[in-house]
Amino acid sequence: MDAIKMIKERRSVRKFKNEKVDRETMTEIVSISRWAPSWGNFQVARYTLVDDRTLIRKLATDGVDGFIYNVNTLKEAKGVAVLSFVKGKSGKLEGDDYATSKANVWEVFDAGIACQTFCLAAHAKGVGTCIMGVINDTSIAGIVGLPDDETVAALIVYGYEDGEHANPTPRKNVDEILRFVEA
Ligand SMILES: Cc1cc2nc3c(=O)[nH]c(=O)nc-3n(C[C@H](O)[C@H](O)[C@H](O)COP(=O)(O)O)c2cc1C
Repeated sequence: MDAIKMIKERRSVRKFKNEKVDRETMTEIVSISRWAPSWGNFQVARYTLVDDRTLIRKLATDGVDGFIYNVNTLKEAKGVAVLSFVKGKSGKLEGDDYATSKANVWEVFDAGIACQTFCLAAHAKGVGTCIMGVINDTSIAGIVGLPDDETVAALIVYGYEDGEHANPTPRKNVDEILRFVEA
């Protein structure tokens, strides 16, 4: 699929068909996601995929602090990716000190790039996604048994979109977000 078309036609999908995405397809999507750039090429992003009905229900009841919008989306979901990252690496060059004023913020930055790469890869494979930031990361880590050296960045609900492709959400005009600086 053409990259520009893919970027413009990706949507947050919150309604899914009653059909699981097979693990082979999801493995391919994660395999494509490996090509996301990362601080120092440390590749700290991790993807824990949940396609078990009972666990997804647990994520809905205990993983999103009752935020009804996300509870309802999760109830529909046939799959959920818990996007996490290995802590304490991104932002450092050599040694233990962080290299910039943003300190460890770069690990979240890495997770964000990984997140969009996953969503675009999924879209290219015909799989819809919705990123969820309103979550309880500690509770989710417990539900999926995340290793201690990782923390949850976001949930990404995934599946085959039900009905018409979601309408595009509005975007700012380019002159609102772009400036060229003259000398
Ligand atoms: C960091 C981040 C957190 C988000 N959290 C949620 C969320 O908790 N629940 C939800 O339904 N959508 C969430 N979204 C999806 C946004 O609402 C959506 O991307 C935005 O409205 C633009 O729509 P589009 O993705 O269809 O282009 C999140 C998106 C991002 C990037």
